[in-house]
Amino acid sequence: MPDASSFYITTPIFYVNDVPHIGHAYTEVAADVLARWHRQAGDDTWLLTGTDEHGQKILRTATANGTTPKEWADKLVAESWQPLLKTVDIANDDFIRTTDERHEKNVQLFVQRLHDAGHIYAGEYEALYCVGCEEFKPQSEIIDGTGEYEGQKVCAIHSKPLELLQEKNYFFRMSEFADRLLALYESRPDFVQPESARNEVIAFVRQGLSDLSISRSSFDWGIKVPWDDSHVVYVWFDALLNYITAVGYGQDDAAFDRRWPGTHIVGKDILRFHAVIWPAMLMAAGLEVPAKVFAHGWLLVGGEKMSKSKLTGIAPSQITETFGSDAFRYYFMRAINFGQDGSFSWEDLAARYQAELANGFGNLASRVVAMVNRYFDGVVPGAGAYTSADEAVQRVVAEATDAADASIASFAIHDAMSAIWRIVDELNGYITIQEPWVLAKDEASRERLGTVLYTAAEGLRALAVLLSPVIPVATTKLWAALGASALGPLEAQPLRDAGRWGQLPPGASVSPLEALFPRIEASSE
Ligand code: ME8
Ligand code: MG
Repeated sequence: MPDASSFYITTPIFYVNDVPHIGHAYTEVAADVLARWHRQAGDDTWLLTGTDEHGQKILRTATANGTTPKEWADKLVAESWQPLLKTVDIANDDFIRTTDERHEKNVQLFVQRLHDAGHIYAGEYEALYCVGCEEFKPQSEIIDGTGEYEGQKVCAIHSKPLELLQEKNYFFRMSEFADRLLALYESRPDFVQPESARNEVIAFVRQGLSDLSISRSSFDWGIKVPWDDSHVVYVWFDALLNYITAVGYGQDDAAFDRRWPGTHIVGKDILRFHAVIWPAMLMAAGLEVPAKVFAHGWLLVGGEKMSKSKLTGIAPSQITETFGSDAFRYYFMRAINFGQDGSFSWEDLAARYQAELANGFGNLASRVVAMVNRYFDGVVPGAGAYTSADEAVQRVVAEATDAADASIASFAIHDAMSAIWRIVDELNGYITIQEPWVLAKDEASRERLGTVLYTAAEGLRALAVLLSPVIPVATTKLWAALGASALGPLEAQPLRDAGRWGQLPPGASVSPLEALFPRIEASSE
């Protein structure tokens, strides 16, 4: 089992050929929020992301663009994938490319070890091939021919007869791992989450598993099979191994022991690869299976799964250029139950931006900072005797901190957001009822005014800490404006301790705060 404080989390490595869209950015943000939370809570955290660069598709596009696949991938990583991480403010610790030497070399090591241990054999691959598609067709794309092709199998796309082709391939004896996988899902009910994903995986494995073809010989853009260089390793077998080659498998045992096993955040499209094939590969190699596979849902746009082929692909920068990276991060973490499908719409984004970020949180921060500036010359006042209203705020802050941390521990990011938002709502209600602007008119209520504004400012201090994994830009500005830098940098504030009352030192100097979430002009959408 992992060391209790180790938290190694990964995103899928995305196909380098594709144009990044908000689906990719969604996975990145979710993994980043979890990583930032754990990192700031003091856990030994590592966030890995990267790109999947081998396979026939990339070879073909590179050739069509008159370049080599490696040069093609270099360009896409520099021009699309690294910039995506900046656009949505991802604090990853590493970026792996499947063309990295550390990866290629240790994929070969892994495959060789499986071969030596008898888990791989050479076999004939016999399947129906479509020359039009240049590929072996899956069952779902094979149909019965009609007319002149009556009695033959034809390709569903080209309607032309398929050819029965044989290719020598290497196979992984995956069929032998079905029982051990079922035992794993049984003994560790939270290995695959959410529950719907777990059920799907169990039903799939119960039907029995076939052996897996793990090499290809019809093209050569891939990692060579070490004992037969006329074959390259199947692109998924190659790609899954990134999760261990990135943390030292085969070359840095200390790093590997420190990080592995990791937690995988994936979209539900690639659940089986991660929850079935990948643990079987690890079992065969005598390595620990992942700590967890969490499959999130689809982002839907106009009711359809978003992908560029559906022409609904939205570039993350389209959103961040208008609303900012914080709003992107907040919106997707708040509006979608993590693990379920969720719809994106510009209207919903704009409405939440205005109601929750601008009016709810941003305005609260501006008002409190402005009142400390106005009534106490920019110096955080000390609190006098607390009333039950003040104590209610303190209680909400403490409870929300614990509830949010518990939700993050169970990957319910949306629940953590609602828990934290209780503080925003509580503070807004508190200020409305306490009316500091009325207290300020009477010198006799000066001490009470100090207590109210200390309570509000200290509540904001806790909010800045709790929200920093989600909206790091705005909370950093708030931290500086509150004079909280006296406590050290925001990202160094221990997260699980955020609810402990009284950390903001009276006497700290508050400085003016610009609008954290300025009004968006309708024309810019
Ligand atoms: O499958 N909603 O890469 P990929 C939510 N290279 N998430 C979405 C999404 C949507 N509409 N569309 C894409 C691959 N995603 C392999 C992975 S890992 C060893 C190899 C996200 O570029 C989601 O995370 O097709 C999904 O699983 C991933 O992009 C697929 O990325
Ligand atoms: Mg895909």
